[in-house]
Amino acid sequence: MPKPTKGIAVSDQIVDNIEQVGIVGCGTMGAGIAEVIARNGIPVRFVEQTDEAVEAGLARIHGALDRQVRRERLTTAERDEIAGRIRGGTDMADLGEADLIVEAVPELLALKQQAFEQIDAHARPNAIIATNTSSLPVMDIAVHTRRPNRVLGFHFFNPAPIMKLIELVRTVVTDDTVVDVARRFAESIGKVPVVVGDRRGFIANQLLFPYLNQAVWMVEGGYATKEDVDAAMRFGAGLPMGPIALTDLVGVDTFVGIMDAIHDQFDDTRFAPRPILAQLADAGFTGRKAGQGFYSYEEPGSSRMLPDEDTREPADPGLVADWRRVGVVGTGTMAAGIVEVCARAGFEVLVRGRALERAEGVIAGVSKSLQRLVDKERLTTDEMVAIVGRIRATIELDDLADCDLVIEAVAEDLAIKQELFAELSRILRPDAVLSTTTSSLPIVRCAMATERPEQVLGLHFFNPAAIMKLVEIVTTVRTDPAVTEQVRAFVDRIGKVGVLCGDRSGFIVNTLLFPYLNDAVKMLESHYATAEEIDTAMKLGCGYPMGPFELMDVVGLDITLAIMERLKGEYRQPSYEAAPLLRNLVDAGFLGRKAGRGFYVYT
Ligand SMILES: NC(=O)c1ccc[n+]([C@@H]2O[C@H](COP(=O)([O-])OP(=O)(O)OC[C@H]3O[C@@H](n4cnc5c(N)ncnc54)[C@H](O)[C@@H]3O)[C@@H](O)[C@H]2O)c1
Repeated sequence: MPKPTKGIAVSDQIVDNIEQVGIVGCGTMGAGIAEVIARNGIPVRFVEQTDEAVEAGLARIHGALDRQVRRERLTTAERDEIAGRIRGGTDMADLGEADLIVEAVPELLALKQQAFEQIDAHARPNAIIATNTSSLPVMDIAVHTRRPNRVLGFHFFNPAPIMKLIELVRTVVTDDTVVDVARRFAESIGKVPVVVGDRRGFIANQLLFPYLNQAVWMVEGGYATKEDVDAAMRFGAGLPMGPIALTDLVGVDTFVGIMDAIHDQFDDTRFAPRPILAQLADAGFTGRKAGQGFYSYEEPGSSRMLPDEDTREPADPGLVADWRRVGVVGTGTMAAGIVEVCARAGFEVLVRGRALERAEGVIAGVSKSLQRLVDKERLTTDEMVAIVGRIRATIELDDLADCDLVIEAVAEDLAIKQELFAELSRILRPDAVLSTTTSSLPIVRCAMATERPEQVLGLHFFNPAAIMKLVEIVTTVRTDPAVTEQVRAFVDRIGKVGVLCGDRSGFIVNTLLFPYLNDAVKMLESHYATAEEIDTAMKLGCGYPMGPFELMDVVGLDITLAIMERLKGEYRQPSYEAAPLLRNLVDAGFLGRKAGRGFYVYT
């Protein structure tokens, strides 16, 4: 790291303890940052542009604290004490006592440069100045001060009081002491700092925003509703929040600023903000903070969403009230999970395998899985016996003749599936519904192999099917909407969350999840951050239950590679090309946990 050649002074004149903090801009982030710092006993002064903006900033902070009191997470005395540590005004001279000043004005380079010139003019010579930018080059901001060696990025995540991560962004001239002081300060307010270089989007946003933008594209293009996209990522990928709700939380205008800045550096169309975003921002529908973004909220700042024209009526349970029997074709992992789910929901289930032992093996597997629930006292022995008693094994396809619904879960091979669909179409009652669990093949081609394409659709369960809540209900251009409604009611009846989407490779979840995983591998192979740092950033910055490398090791690197290849084939998006490192690891047999080694080593 080159040593600074300019700047005011040497490191011993840099503050070594942060006793007062200044904040410039008290919007979504400024208010959250003020709260978290004041909660840690440190006085805060914030500066806004106008008296009205100061009032709005204070109202934002007080509103957030009041909500904590209502939820009994703070006493009124604690609230008053925290609020008492925060003062706002319009005069930059108020920042004269601060040891650290954090800028949190809107994501526009010129605005931030101007703010830094003013901050620099008023700040103490030994003070550290930080920007909360999510995507702009910190260096381009730092050079607008007389102390670029005392400037760094201090990137909090939204909501700042809750999210643990802070990305500390060092430029090529940031003094080591500045990074050390910032790191200690971040830790002292209960955060986990990760030090990164000055690259747009840093770790978390560079991985998060193309994913969010892709989700916006799905909604904008009518592929799925915003509610379904959000539910898919929550229930199919275990994320704490759906991408569209998160876009509203980030702020649609802020989102556009961040994407523009990242796009400038990386020139990948996935970073080009979808046109709907600028439209919403221009209309003042900037998200949760305005009470209206993609969703409508009870009031500005509220997390409570109001139903709108996208909100689908619950499916009518009467549509499947007389369904009794479900056929499952296949004896693999997915088939077994689906058999268990359907039998537990009260259906008679016929499981068809090519060999009787395999089909009977499924029943044995379900018994074992249920026994674990009995052991944990989540099921009684009588219930278990009744559930298993509803399942029958067969090798005869003709035995499925009386099924209301057949779920195909055989090998991922189009010719095999088409042959099976053609046979099932001849055997089943005319009103029976046929479905496939394929995760990548065109469902319409299975449908066209039958004499009833309007009664065919996809039912994409997630592994382990007995546990994962989501089912993607995939309709083709030939699917009858009445059949879709019946299947929605069926999915409700088996206790799953159903979302509707069209017949494309990857559906909702895999199309959004896997390019993000592949991007993480590309970031790793560019040596910008380690696998541990990237995993930490996504867990603590975005609240993900697992980091991308931990997740790939569980899913399997070979599966990840295969899905990326299919997505690349479907969308021809150059940046969907699988990362060379991913290919190399697969070639080396490092397939993840199942092989004892993937990105991490398992003992
Ligand atoms: N929203 C997020 O999820 C998020 C997360 C991390 C970082 N950030 C970054 O934080 C920064 C602020 O974003 P935000 O979402 O809080 O924006 P915001 O629009 O909610 O707030 C910006 C605030 O800055 C004030 N302001 C504008 N010009 C000013 C000036 N010259 N002096 C003082 N105050 C001024 C505005 O009045 C407003 O209150 C951006 O750089 C953004 O990229 C945002």
